[in-house]
Amino acid sequence: MSKTLPVSAIENGTVIDHIRSGQAPRIMHLLNVLQSKNKVTVGLNLPSKLIGLKDLLKIENRVLTNDEANEIVIFAPEATINIIKNFEVIQKITTHLPQTIPHVFLCPNPVCITHKESMESFFHIEDQGKQIKLICHYCEKEFNRDQVKVNL
Ligand code: CTP
Ligand code: ZN
Repeated sequence: MSKTLPVSAIENGTVIDHIRSGQAPRIMHLLNVLQSKNKVTVGLNLPSKLIGLKDLLKIENRVLTNDEANEIVIFAPEATINIIKNFEVIQKITTHLPQTIPHVFLCPNPVCITHKESMESFFHIEDQGKQIKLICHYCEKEFNRDQVKVNL
């Protein structure tokens, strides 16, 4: 048995593991965890056999929906999402990159109509292997994952 666990186990909630290093803050933003009162444990730049360095997020007393889990794939394609109950992993959520995402992101194009009218954003997602493209439904411009901001 290893002498230390990098981050301690939780009783109930969601563990998002194998986040590519550097992406945990964006996922915290995406899930709006800073505005919640849930206890959250964050691990940054932890060693991982799978992806070199990883980030990890444990959110207590919150069970992610499938939609929330799928949105995480945009920033962390290798992430594993585990639901914990009474200290046991009761579910490993199988994620899929969504084809479209309403509402969640703001269009980075400053002259996009979505900023002028009070309209919900709508992006089409294109999986290009190593890269993911987000295409605004309204201005049709393409963006990568580092360009879009989360709509809070
Ligand atoms: N975990 C936790 N609290 C628990 C149980 C598990 O925080 N009470 C975390 C583990 O630390 C791990 C993740 O949940 O980060 C998944 O747990 P587990 O399936 O036991 O880990 P592995 O067997 O390593 O599975 P995987 O390879 O999918 O990470
Ligand atoms: Zn746009």
